Amino acid sequence: MSYNPEIPRNRYDNYEDREWTRLEKDGHGELLYHVHLDILKRYISQDNKVLEIGAGSGRYTKDLVKMCDELTVGDISTHQIEFNKSKMKELSLFDQVKLFCVVDVLDMGEFEDASFDCIVCIGGVINYLLDKEKDGINEMLRVLKPGGILIVGAMSFIGASLYYLDGIRYEKDQFGLEATKWIFNTGVQDEEHYPVLSKHYVHMMRSSEMDALFADFPVTVKERSSAGLYTQAGDTALENARQDKEFWELVIEKEIAFTKLPGTLDCGMNLIYVVEKDK
Ligand SMILES: C[S@@+](CC[C@H](N)C(=O)[O-])C[C@H]1O[C@@H](n2cnc3c(N)ncnc32)[C@H](O)[C@@H]1O
Repeated sequence: MSYNPEIPRNRYDNYEDREWTRLEKDGHGELLYHVHLDILKRYISQDNKVLEIGAGSGRYTKDLVKMCDELTVGDISTHQIEFNKSKMKELSLFDQVKLFCVVDVLDMGEFEDASFDCIVCIGGVINYLLDKEKDGINEMLRVLKPGGILIVGAMSFIGASLYYLDGIRYEKDQFGLEATKWIFNTGVQDEEHYPVLSKHYVHMMRSSEMDALFADFPVTVKERSSAGLYTQAGDTALENARQDKEFWELVIEKEIAFTKLPGTLDCGMNLIYVVEKDK
């Protein structure tokens, strides 16, 4: 199946406020948020010009805008951009964002080559690109300055399969064992092989695939992280942990630390790669 921009556009145009609440409504969202935020804080500096692509409703926009000199916010979904704008207005941050634009990561012609010191593309944009993954990386590297930092976050297949194992078993009865083998072998949930009713067609990645993807480009991988590792403890354990404030703080600290260990890389719900474009 090839990339179809209508799939992410339709999904996120009809997402109401779920993108805004996603990272605070439960323990899983909080874990993701803290791991990503820690990485953003360590790689972005106050003098940076930053592009946040696939920004969604602005959960990270509100933080990024305070971390850098100039922030440009892009997303393929008009709804997400409008929602993001209204949230930034509510938070009195609107005027600090240089530009909001509806744009596909595959075609960012409005930006000149080497325009940004850092590009943040987290929360799974890359998963929707299917046969256009390399084109997406290529386009982001085009608008990134030499020596600039690209931060890419993706849904992790192995992590998702651990967490949603029972769902995969249920879907085996709908789609058959061959489809189940397909999803385990490729991480690709597509119309031909794994026709989920939601039409949420994505390529969930494993770290070996992220490594292979970046190996074709003039970049150095600076950091690999998982995120949502303790999500695997299950919803009940996570919610209990969250109710115990001092314990939860410790869990978040350990989530940030343990997600950097090579042995846990594929086990979280997300994978995050930080790469530097060669000078
Ligand atoms: C799960 S949300 C993540 C939002 C935010 N980055 C976060 O991590 O909370 C994914 C976002 O990527 C956007 N998106 C998906 N494909 C895209 C593409 N090809 N170009 C630009 N944005 C895209 C969607 O519209 C959606 O807002």
